[in-house]
Amino acid sequence: MKQRIFSGMRPTGKLHLGHLLGALQNWEFLQDEYDCVFCIVDWHALFSEYEYSKDIKENIIEMALDWIACGIDSKRSIVFVQSHVQEHLELQMILSCITPLGWLERNPTYKEQLREVKTRDLQTYGFLGYPVLQAADILLYKAAAVPIGEDQLPHIEFTRELSRRFNFIYKKELFPDCKAILTKTPRLLGIDGRKMSKSYQNAINLSDSEEEVTDKVKQMYTDPKRLKLKDSGHPDECNVFSYYDVFGSDQKDDVRHWCTQATKGCTECKMILADKILEKLDPIREKRAELEKDRSIIEDILQEGAAKAKALAQKTLAEVKEAVF
Ligand code: TRP
Ligand code: SF4
Repeated sequence: MKQRIFSGMRPTGKLHLGHLLGALQNWEFLQDEYDCVFCIVDWHALFSEYEYSKDIKENIIEMALDWIACGIDSKRSIVFVQSHVQEHLELQMILSCITPLGWLERNPTYKEQLREVKTRDLQTYGFLGYPVLQAADILLYKAAAVPIGEDQLPHIEFTRELSRRFNFIYKKELFPDCKAILTKTPRLLGIDGRKMSKSYQNAINLSDSEEEVTDKVKQMYTDPKRLKLKDSGHPDECNVFSYYDVFGSDQKDDVRHWCTQATKGCTECKMILADKILEKLDPIREKRAELEKDRSIIEDILQEGAAKAKALAQKTLAEVKEAVF
């Protein structure tokens, strides 16, 4: 029997290279080894996007298109939308009863977001409880492991502690311990050298056209000390070079050579990189375009996924209620 993994992503906008390398590529690969449940967590999006909630519907479809185009296989894995399976909210409510307030207030991810996020008011009752819903997501499917980025580690730790507390209070080994599967993400910055993020408008999106990709690569910041073609460059201080790490590692020696010896200019260096990135993105864009022709395909996938998820969720929730009442 394969172990089960669960992961989720908030539908807050277009997916970019960071999502591909940081999550989707890994998910695709995990499908061989695990029973996978992949969830578009729209309730989690609502916690921060409550004033822009009308966008969520379209973002869900866009996200599903990106996922399937990147190789998430709805035949092997369960792909669904969180709000289609009401059991998530029911378990969240039950778990919230046993969640000590201090665990939520102390959560480093929570504190960081209150500090960092300037464009949303996150001082709400709902947002404080974000990790409780995340724990419900994971525990509803009794997932053994959760592939996530490092920033999510506190939430997995929280889930483990909450599940133990549940098992202890209700004297039942109902929930297994879950562990994190950390993705070794190559650090890929945005085209302006800051963290790649939709809100900085510095991301290369999975759905960008060839022209958009080439254009964005052309705009990338390079070694600021290399002003003229005959200046020798410092590849280790150049964002373009770090992209070669991910998209053309076989060519890194060549790049280092032409950069330090000033035998090729930055424009040419970028054009070669753009081709490398397109090699990766072309098949994804083509598959996406194909899927987009008939949106009922995606809608059917999500509906089927919800039915499969619901069957698992109902079973766990019945056990939970049996333990509690
Ligand atoms: N909090 C996660 C993020 O922002 C998304 C998420 C919600 C999630 N529920 C989950 C991730 C359950 C893993 C498992 O990335
Ligand atoms: Fe960067 Fe390439 Fe220019 Fe060197 S040649 S500075 S690696 S863009």
